[in-house]
Amino acid sequence: MIYPIYVYGSPVLRKETEQVPVDAPELRQLVDDMFETMYAASGVGLAAPQIGKSMRLFVIDASPYEEDEPALAGFKKAFINADIYERSEEAITMEEGCLSFPKLYENVSRPERIRIRYTDENGVEHDEEYSGMAARVIQHEYDHIEGKVFVDHLSPLRKTLLSSKLGSFAKGKFRASYKCKLPK
Ligand code: NI
Repeated sequence: MIYPIYVYGSPVLRKETEQVPVDAPELRQLVDDMFETMYAASGVGLAAPQIGKSMRLFVIDASPYEEDEPALAGFKKAFINADIYERSEEAITMEEGCLSFPKLYENVSRPERIRIRYTDENGVEHDEEYSGMAARVIQHEYDHIEGKVFVDHLSPLRKTLLSSKLGSFAKGKFRASYKCKLPK
């Protein structure tokens, strides 16, 4: 099932998320649906709040970056109850986009390396270190389960310059190639 994607201005994107019961029978279907929704929107990551669910869950398929980073071949993972518990001092700036902000791309600075604990869709616990594009995408999605979005990292000046653009999402004044849900 493909879910509509909640755009910026939707309260659910700011709501506190809940821990996910990893043995819930409907979890596997939800993970499958999130991948399906993400692929339909040509995204590389999708977090549960973006489909209106306040859960500590996100999915990533970073394999489109395989050409630049061969290690990302087949990188398709679900992150349940993730906890980023270590971040490198060194930061790196890269351009990001987000399915909740159709066609907006902005430079964001983030730690270059992270360590993360999470459970996968099979209930297996992981403790891993990531750098490069994987660390970038994971941190972007992790923000979503913390009630944050990528524009929160922009400078006050940049946010001011973008304010009318940012306000336009909730009003439906944008184009997207996938189904979106506006705040009421
Ligand atoms: Ni996003």
